[in-house]
Amino acid sequence: MRVQQGVSFSLILQLISLLFFLCLCTLNFSAAESFVSTTATDCWASFAPYLANVVCCPQFDATMVILMGQYSKYSGMLSLNTTNAQHCLSDFEKILETQGANRNLKKICSIHPANLTEASCPVVDANKFESIVDSSKILTACGKVDPVKECCQQVCQNAILDAARKIAMDGMVSMPENSTRIDDCKSIVFRWLASKLDPSSANGVLRALSNCKVNKVCPLVFPDMANVTKECGYTISNKTACCKAMESYVSHLQEQSFITNLQALNCAASLGMKLQKANVSQNVYDLCHINLKDFSLQVGLQESGCLLPSLPLDVNYDKTSGIGFICDLNDNIEAPWPSASFVPAGSCNETSKLPARPTAKPSQATAGFQVKELIVPLLLSSSLVLTALI
Ligand SMILES: *[C@@H]1O[C@H](CO)[C@@H](O)[C@H](O)[C@H]1NC(C)=O
Ligand SMILES: *[C@@H]1O[C@H](CO)[C@@H](O)[C@H](O)[C@H]1NC(C)=O
Ligand SMILES: *[C@@H]1O[C@H](CO)[C@@H](O)[C@H](O)[C@H]1NC(C)=O
Ligand SMILES: *[C@@H]1O[C@H](CO)[C@@H](O)[C@H](O)[C@H]1NC(C)=O
Ligand SMILES: *[C@@H]1O[C@H](CO)[C@@H](O)[C@H](O)[C@H]1NC(C)=O
Ligand SMILES: *[C@@H]1O[C@H](CO)[C@@H](O)[C@H](O)[C@H]1NC(C)=O
Ligand SMILES: *[C@@H]1O[C@H](CO)[C@@H](O)[C@H](O)[C@H]1NC(C)=O
Repeated sequence: MRVQQGVSFSLILQLISLLFFLCLCTLNFSAAESFVSTTATDCWASFAPYLANVVCCPQFDATMVILMGQYSKYSGMLSLNTTNAQHCLSDFEKILETQGANRNLKKICSIHPANLTEASCPVVDANKFESIVDSSKILTACGKVDPVKECCQQVCQNAILDAARKIAMDGMVSMPENSTRIDDCKSIVFRWLASKLDPSSANGVLRALSNCKVNKVCPLVFPDMANVTKECGYTISNKTACCKAMESYVSHLQEQSFITNLQALNCAASLGMKLQKANVSQNVYDLCHINLKDFSLQVGLQESGCLLPSLPLDVNYDKTSGIGFICDLNDNIEAPWPSASFVPAGSCNETSKLPARPTAKPSQATAGFQVKELIVPLLLSSSLVLTALI
């Protein structure tokens, strides 16, 4: 109920913001209207920090790129100047806020006005861009991207890097590899690509590419391990005490963020290696029955982990059930303890044997979690309470 009221109220606010705020920004927010509202749901209110890494910020970035791509179609420019960038970013934030998004997205997604400018890339004129790079090559590689294959084969990513290097070299005889400059030029390439594709295809490609990055890492911050090493280091003298310390440690991780199943594999590997370095040599995951799901934020009345699927994902909004997203409930897999034969996820080494690697696609047994209510305001509570609709 509260959600519905929020939405009609937000429509009014949106109109007001259209009248008052948008005069100073040259981006046309209606040109990617549906992705603006997808972003607002993906970055919904108090959920945004917990979905920032996998859902909210990737979609925020993609929408921004699409808006700039659309803008370049009539301005001929693939960047905004500093003044314009400031207005546009703050307008974008305000529009999202009126549609229910968290009001702190700039901070949550660490995006600055400078991210909308040319930064250190020397080429921002669309015509000049096309005179330097091989446009058809980028479009062939990136016109359509398979989100699973691309992460391994990197066809589109390589084409983008190639183009970014070329424009980064503009006007220079030889340039030492400057990664800042190449990164800045990559943003320009993304915007150009978004100007050549329809918004929906552009969004698919951008989300697929950011998803490859997302799944390669573990986004969790590991707190100090002294409690665990004290009880579990060297030979474990007291299993109960060791597992208690381990459980308490893992509960700290569970307060941080929703993660994908592949991220959970990376987290299990990182923590395992840290523990081994700290002389915890026994497989404490096995000893204490630590599952991949234990690395995720806990949901539902039974406090079970919710691993997100590793494919690009959006939050759904439904008038009757509210805000919801998919948890892959199938990943009841013991966390793999790192060993010489263990290769972390995302390395795409087909010959490496991962123990029961989670599938990329959510399986049939996947259940939808609908957020019925947040029992305690998230800022004050350590766990998010969702109710499962299975
Ligand atoms: C903004 O985009 C919409 C949808 O593409 C289009 O109908 C409208 O004319 C554009 N407005 C401006 C000022 O370009
Ligand atoms: C920035 O860009 C806007 C829109 O293109 C333009 O009106 C404005 O004069 C520019 N400002 C500066 C300082 O270049
Ligand atoms: C914005 O720019 C900063 C510094 O230039 C960079 O670290 C950050 O990754 C950029 N953010 C995005 C979303 O591109
Ligand atoms: C790379 O380029 C950036 C921006 O032009 C500059 O600030 C930085 O010092 C350069 N780094 C190197 C290693 O040349
Ligand atoms: C093992 O640790 C538990 C919990 O800290 C404690 O209750 C128990 O007495 C310990 N057992 C032994 C044999 O020290
Ligand atoms: C370590 O143990 C202390 C005392 O039991 C506890 O307060 C603290 O939260 C624990 N820290 C971690 C990271 O588990
Ligand atoms: C692990 O054990 C080795 C050998 O006993 C010791 O030198 C090292 O300091 C220990 N490392 C930690 C982090 O306790």
